[in-house]
Amino acid sequence: MPTKRHAYNFPTRIEYGPGAARDVAKTLAQSGLKKGLLVSDKGVEQAGLGDTVRGYFKDAGIELATFSDVKPNPVDDNVYDGAKAFKAAGAEFVLGLGGGSALDVAKAVKCMATHDGPLEKYDDMKDGSQYISNNMPPFYAIPTTAGTGSEVGRSSVITLKSTNKKTIIFSPYFMPNIAVLDPELTVTLPAKLTAATGVDAFVHNLEAYVADAYHPLADGIAKEAMVRAYHNLPIAVQDGKNLAARGEMLMASAMGATAFQKSLGINHSIAHGLGVYFDLHHGLANAAVLKEVMIYNMQEKGVAEKLAHLSMLLGGQRSAEAFIELLSQWLTGVGMPTNLKSFDIPASMIPKLEAYALEDPCCSGNPRKVVPGDVADILKKLI
Ligand SMILES: [Fe+2]
Repeated sequence: MPTKRHAYNFPTRIEYGPGAARDVAKTLAQSGLKKGLLVSDKGVEQAGLGDTVRGYFKDAGIELATFSDVKPNPVDDNVYDGAKAFKAAGAEFVLGLGGGSALDVAKAVKCMATHDGPLEKYDDMKDGSQYISNNMPPFYAIPTTAGTGSEVGRSSVITLKSTNKKTIIFSPYFMPNIAVLDPELTVTLPAKLTAATGVDAFVHNLEAYVADAYHPLADGIAKEAMVRAYHNLPIAVQDGKNLAARGEMLMASAMGATAFQKSLGINHSIAHGLGVYFDLHHGLANAAVLKEVMIYNMQEKGVAEKLAHLSMLLGGQRSAEAFIELLSQWLTGVGMPTNLKSFDIPASMIPKLEAYALEDPCCSGNPRKVVPGDVADILKKLI
């Protein structure tokens, strides 16, 4: 039952269910921990979630200092300031609470708590992960949105001021000791953000599933997560206090980030460019381009077969076209766009958006080989 407590190790230990955050606070106190650093952000604090979690830990006998100076697109100064706060508090562990930004900063803070700077040294593109040892404080992650799945991921995305570029810091040791999926901490998320983040979670699973690589574990997880997200996102959007639907979306999000170890694709590549150039919300951008990207990808025979299979799993006819129709209705039903017409994207920006997408790391995982002109064609249909 989605509203009961469960525990999994796949691959991170997951404590799932209403009340999980309170229970984990007690477990950590029993293990002897006394002081921690809570890494959150302004939105999380304004929603009162920081107070709620500090209350759980205080009741359990653990003192939490708080660092919430995390930008929506986090920068390296946030990490250095967080590491200073960790040391000043004499903290023994890092507790991340929030969406992807807060959890990404929390991972980098635990790294900087014991490793020398600057953060540039650990840039994954420069093989920096070899310098990250497991000598780091324990880390616990509590997501307050159901989208990025950062709580089960091994990457932290931070913008470096030296390059002004989003930089991936990666380490297998960034996996949290426990990911806490507590739907009670997501009920305050507004409907529009619930929809946008939920679509992001769905797209992680969909792009992972259609990617052309052998990964049956990821495929199985992705298919199951899509069925859960398909049925539960409309409920969570309509009735934000529905703990069962909120829980299923948290699970679909964690499953998405587990599945996309296999790959993502150009839906994300295009969405990333729309985020950089037009500040479009990541989930919203993913929703807006999804239909055309799937029409593009289904020209690849293997993809069409997979989409037809998905359509059946979601209760539709066995065809890729039927899947795309179901997908469009589902997006519209949760208030998400299926094109970019309302975003004033000028046609003159298409070459820049295409160039960005072609260089994006997710592009190479796309099941249909993307050649110059393809992304421009997709964008022309969308704007
Ligand atoms: Fe995403």
